Amino acid sequence: MVIGLPVEVKDGEDRVALTPSGVHAVGVDGHRVVVEASAGAAAGYTDDEYRAAGAEVTGDVDTVWAADVVVKVKEPQPSEHRHLRRGLTLFGFLHLAAEPELTAVLVERGVAAYAFETLSEAGGLPLLAPMSEIAGRAAAIVAAATLSSASGGSGVLVGGAAGVPPGEVVVIGMGVAGRLAAHGLRGLGGHVTGVDVDLSRLLARRLDGAVDATQVSEPRHVDELVRGADVVIGAALVPGRRAPVVVSEESVAAMADGGVVVDLAIDQGGCVATSRPTTLSEPTFTRHGVVHYAVTNVPGQYPRTASAALSAAVTPRLTRLASDVAAGTADDLAGARNVADGAVVHPAVAEAHPDLPSRL
Ligand SMILES: NC(=O)c1ccc[n+]([C@@H]2O[C@H](COP(=O)([O-])OP(=O)(O)OC[C@H]3O[C@@H](n4cnc5c(N)ncnc54)[C@H](O)[C@@H]3O)[C@@H](O)[C@H]2O)c1
Repeated sequence: MVIGLPVEVKDGEDRVALTPSGVHAVGVDGHRVVVEASAGAAAGYTDDEYRAAGAEVTGDVDTVWAADVVVKVKEPQPSEHRHLRRGLTLFGFLHLAAEPELTAVLVERGVAAYAFETLSEAGGLPLLAPMSEIAGRAAAIVAAATLSSASGGSGVLVGGAAGVPPGEVVVIGMGVAGRLAAHGLRGLGGHVTGVDVDLSRLLARRLDGAVDATQVSEPRHVDELVRGADVVIGAALVPGRRAPVVVSEESVAAMADGGVVVDLAIDQGGCVATSRPTTLSEPTFTRHGVVHYAVTNVPGQYPRTASAALSAAVTPRLTRLASDVAAGTADDLAGARNVADGAVVHPAVAEAHPDLPSRL
């Protein structure tokens, strides 16, 4: 199989889906990789390193997208839709529940679309997890910095001071991203409450020391917590589905001016009612006096760490996908297949787009 690795074009997106080491590993399995020139440059990988790993490097984007399988980090942007065609297998983060237009294009064009974020093994999400780890750590940095008055925040220092209580932090969803965000903000001295629907998750977070307190996710409790919060982190996920809206507009409106919401779940539509997607170029907006950070590709600004982590997770699954496509035996790849043969084939994505043809 020929595997294409294009330059990412989403705003501020500096990651690359395969490092030269990943390209080499895929090549050992008999596949050929065509890399668009400079695809790894922002992540610190030169074209010469890709050539040395066995790739063909080309400046022609059409040649890259003519491959049997295209592997990329982020969902195809509108400028990339012209490359989507029958016979193409696409493998990347797609977040289709929050992307009705892209889903319709993939269905209409007959693309076989496999999403990193729904690939599930042993109860975990091995392609999402490394990026959630990075986004969670980044969320702590962003939230603490955005609270400064220079950034439009309330001027509360997360850790407080002698005789002055720390900032109140509420983290919604205590999976991989929520845990790392909680851990980071607690490390900065914040008072962190973790919220989840899953009591066993909350017990684990109590035991591993990521939180000061836990709260089951019920609307009245969440409202009470959010009203008193300096920082709210949104990280609730039901795989493949649109994110559950856990924090209401009324709760956000009741927060003190200069409070901060970091909604990581925005890539699945957001778990805070007042969120809307923002970009790395313009990451924040203020609503009801609360600063919102809702960037859909947070790890894109840490491309050296994020590309290495992503490529390591992607490579073995890509090799399997390409070999299955070559043999004509491609299956659902552990829940990754979202669209195939002109229909949505993932139940949660189909639920988000009842108007599109589906086959479950
Ligand atoms: N914005 C970005 O750049 C970025 C980067 C990485 C991950 N993410 C997103 O962060 C989100 C979290 O990812 P993750 O890997 O941590 O997921 P995860 O599956 O590890 O954890 C999600 C948690 O949410 C909980 N949850 C589900 N419904 C809930 C509800 N109603 N109330 C409270 N909790 C609820 C689940 O029980 C689970 O513990 C996802 O949407 C993911 O796509 C965003």
